[in-house]
Amino acid sequence: MTVAYAICSVSDIPNRRGRGFELVRVVDGAEKPWPIFVVRWDKQVFAYVNRCPHNNVNLDWETNQFFEPGTKNIVCGKHGSLFELASGKCFDGPCVGKDLEPVSVCVLDGDICVVGVELAELPDEDDEEAARSASPPSP
Ligand code: FES
Repeated sequence: MTVAYAICSVSDIPNRRGRGFELVRVVDGAEKPWPIFVVRWDKQVFAYVNRCPHNNVNLDWETNQFFEPGTKNIVCGKHGSLFELASGKCFDGPCVGKDLEPVSVCVLDGDICVVGVELAELPDEDDEEAARSASPPSP
């Protein structure tokens, strides 16, 4: 049976903006941190693991800033690698030749849902905000 995990409403992410989530995935019975981000572009949503293939850090060095300003490219805030929105393929910067890891999502009744994986209990939004503000990315 496929389980869809609702992580937020589509309306929680403004058009042409993104949002990061600190999820916990269950792999072979063990719980593992699974940071992802979701970006909206008009009626489409895309999601990737929030790890830059260059240095394995979060892409959003400023919280929830995933787009290169004025474009539809995803940017890594550390060294500026640029990724295609729809494919996650890097086309400029230190990551050229590497891709973001895609996350399967769908929209059900206005909610953005993660599918194809097993998640541990979802944190409530207050816990998630506290966790993000308590652990900024390290240089
Ligand atoms: S860590 Fe992302 S481009 Fe270097």
